Amino acid sequence: MKNIVILISGRGSNMESVVRASQAEQWPARIAAVISNKADAAGLVFARANGIVTAVVPSKDFASRADFDVALQQAVDAFAPDLVVLAGFMRILTAPFVEHYAGRMINIHPSLLPDFPGLATHRQALEAGVARHGVSVHIVTAELDHGPVLGQAEVEVLPGDTEATLAARVLVQEHILYPRVIRAFIEGRPGAGSGTAA
Ligand code: GAR
Repeated sequence: MKNIVILISGRGSNMESVVRASQAEQWPARIAAVISNKADAAGLVFARANGIVTAVVPSKDFASRADFDVALQQAVDAFAPDLVVLAGFMRILTAPFVEHYAGRMINIHPSLLPDFPGLATHRQALEAGVARHGVSVHIVTAELDHGPVLGQAEVEVLPGDTEATLAARVLVQEHILYPRVIRAFIEGRPGAGSGTAA
């Protein structure tokens, strides 16, 4: 049985979709812990209610990014993770932290990478006038939102779309794509998780 540790910062809806899929599909992996850098992250409530161990490493308590990452690494390693899943974890990670989890840490990003790295991806997509937008799951590397892509799902950008309507349509695909890619990854089929589900 492999161990997955999920890192969140807020709502946690992607974490929720992964937890639900892992339970419903009886993955050969368990969600060993959900860890947040914010004590009030709403996702912690769902995790606890589902019997998952939670931990908080408050980023606001640390003077430097490096100090925080050392504490976070200790908290994560306590659960001997085979895979670290970033699910709306809104922190830039230091190079030593990324290196420590090289090849076993993945992220979900709400754009069709390499398009629109960084924040406000839906606004970026609308301002660029693209016809297709979507979500990517990628291996985390030192450069923000630039690691090898494991899977993507697309949505059409519709006339009249706002950031909110586009974000909502992408989020539906996020909740389908992330469990699919994670399952493929832990079963040794990375790349098998691509594709937009209708
Ligand atoms: C998701 O849309 C995720 O793709 C995005 O934050 C949201 C978190 O929602 N992540 C990033 O923008 C990372 N750069 P959630 O907490 O409900 O999963």
